[in-house]
Amino acid sequence: MEIGSFYNLYFNKNPFSIKKHHGKQDLFFASGRIAIKYIVENLGCKSCLIPNYLCSSVYQCFDNFDYYKIQNNFEINIKYLSDLINNNNYDLILIINFFGYIDKNITEIKNICKKHDILILEDFTHNLFSNNLYGDICISSFRKTLPTPFGSIVKINSSRINIKQSTGINLYYIYLNIVKILGSILKNISYFKWIWRPMLIYCENNVKNLNYNGFDYINHFFYNYYYDINILTIRKQNIAYLKNSLSYTINKNFNNTYFCFIMNCLDQNYRDKLLKFLISKNIYCPVYWPLDFDKNNKCNYSINKTVLMIPIDQRYGKYDMEYIISYIKYFDRNIK
Ligand SMILES: Cc1ncc(COP(=O)(O)O)c(C=O)c1O
Repeated sequence: MEIGSFYNLYFNKNPFSIKKHHGKQDLFFASGRIAIKYIVENLGCKSCLIPNYLCSSVYQCFDNFDYYKIQNNFEINIKYLSDLINNNNYDLILIINFFGYIDKNITEIKNICKKHDILILEDFTHNLFSNNLYGDICISSFRKTLPTPFGSIVKINSSRINIKQSTGINLYYIYLNIVKILGSILKNISYFKWIWRPMLIYCENNVKNLNYNGFDYINHFFYNYYYDINILTIRKQNIAYLKNSLSYTINKNFNNTYFCFIMNCLDQNYRDKLLKFLISKNIYCPVYWPLDFDKNNKCNYSINKTVLMIPIDQRYGKYDMEYIISYIKYFDRNIK
């Protein structure tokens, strides 16, 4: 039994019966990073604002930027942000809905941005099924939620924005998709574990350097194939099982989120030991994010030290949640 880690691919529907689950104007890119870079370059954004808590791959999409601050409860420090905006010129702000949480001051932030003509690029990777998109342009790397090989969707919400995507073909990208699809199918067979993992890691490492920003037909297909609102129900149920059985401090901002179960361990030593212990039981909890970059010491290194993200995705149900709970309780009783 394994909980977490890469998705495996399954084919449970007739591919000719699938429906479209996206808007007519939506764009599809190979990855979230490629989409963000393309948007920033295409809109001619010279100076950007980005949060000081984010994945290092996202930070690399920006050349000229300042950090605004995310507080330990994952809220934007609005005073710090408005001071930055009042004293500098920015073209774009990246706002991430961490684990699906939409900042409580988002209306005020939108008004400040409107006044200063700053475009909002909303990253809804962690809440793919959001029905409250507020950005002028919104991006989601949907492969974190759906078992697609790669892919990100971009939704444009403002008539001021005009982004066109080419429709060419990139053979190397097609090759990476084929390897990834093959690896994700082999993952269903435990005998091939030695081969699927290196295959998927190879694809992940190589897509980073991909120079292709045309329309992603392959993952457009998989997006429609796997998009299913029931995923949301399963994820919420799994979170509820964990919430009822674990008595850890849970940040109130995450009461309505469904990306993963966020456990606040309060202590880094405890968190790291528990993380290792769970790996030994084949429970793989991702770390968001092992921040290894810095710019003038403005990165927030403390926010990610005590939280543990437990997988609750649609692959799992009550039995799997009980498996996780039993090991966390065992750890608390016998090991910590
Ligand atoms: C919130 C968020 N947005 C965007 C990305 C980038 O997506 P991709 O891996 O598809 O480039 C990541 C990557 O982990 C992420 O965590």
